[in-house]
Amino acid sequence: MSIISSDISKAVNILKDEELVAIPTETVYGLAGNIYSEKAINTIFETKKRPFFNPLIVHIPSINYLNNIAKDIPEKAMHLATAFWPGPLTLVLKKQPGIPDLITAGKDTVAVRVPNHPVTLELLQSLDFPLAAPSANPFGSISPTTAKHVENYFKEDIKMVLEGGSCKNGIESTIIGFENEIPVVYRLGSISIEAIESVVGKISIKNKKELKPDAPGMLARHYAPTTKTILTTNIPEELNKYIGKRIGILVFNNIIKNDSIKYVITLSKNGDLVEAASNLYSALHELDHQNLDIIIAEKLPDFGLGKSINDRLQRATFSH
Ligand code: TXA
Ligand code: MG
Repeated sequence: MSIISSDISKAVNILKDEELVAIPTETVYGLAGNIYSEKAINTIFETKKRPFFNPLIVHIPSINYLNNIAKDIPEKAMHLATAFWPGPLTLVLKKQPGIPDLITAGKDTVAVRVPNHPVTLELLQSLDFPLAAPSANPFGSISPTTAKHVENYFKEDIKMVLEGGSCKNGIESTIIGFENEIPVVYRLGSISIEAIESVVGKISIKNKKELKPDAPGMLARHYAPTTKTILTTNIPEELNKYIGKRIGILVFNNIIKNDSIKYVITLSKNGDLVEAASNLYSALHELDHQNLDIIIAEKLPDFGLGKSINDRLQRATFSH
């Protein structure tokens, strides 16, 4: 029997029982549990096989709830929250003492956002606790953007996936922290740097590719298909290197024809970076299921959401 269901009150009951529900958001599906339940939070880490040093994002119903989670909030954080919430922006702020160490990996900061999805907002409003929710995929693999992706990953390991359709934005939230009250980007994501800068002025980017990162948990190899994947600006040149192999191609908007290619996905025929971002993970899931020897991905223009997509593609290819 499928674990996918649209029943919000069922989700409420499971979460109150300290168990997990996968929830839709505008970015990717999350694997959610009560932030105050040690049992639920431990189950999140176990189910995902996620290392405990990688802290979780707290999802709250509205900006009014923020003071329960964070304190000493910088002015620029409030400007960003006002501009982008509900939406794909995560703020890393000083935590309130009541926030469990399990959520924050023992740090004195907490990551928090108000997701922009009607189903999950209704769910959050029906609960008297916030939800910790990392992306609903095994650690290091491609994030899920449909309920079916989640079901394929976890089968009976979780009780329920709350149906919310395909995720509109399709890549994770942009994460912003503050160093001496100055905003710093810890993870590129669904909101472009340009859009963030239009609210708070110039910002710096610390979107590292570390093997064991300290602050933002940005591991080098992440978001990765099981099929060997490479990223290039020159597809014809790469094609020559893999003659005789089963090749899959992921391109931005080009039409590519070549007899040696088995499977092609175009992210946006009109060259629209927003559309490309929303299609990225489903394209990677689809390519990963074609029994290919290699996926060759084309680097996108490096501005706007192109920068975020390139970041994910780079991590998908690292160390293959
Ligand atoms: O779009 C999203 O943000 C999705 C949806 C479900 O909301 N969630 C998501 O969660 O991407 P996850 O766990 O896959 O990524 C959370 C990121 C990790 O890179 C983690 O290291 C970082 O947030 N993070 C969490 N708390 C942090 C903190 N206190 N300081 C720095 N980074 C933090
Ligand atoms: Mg993730």
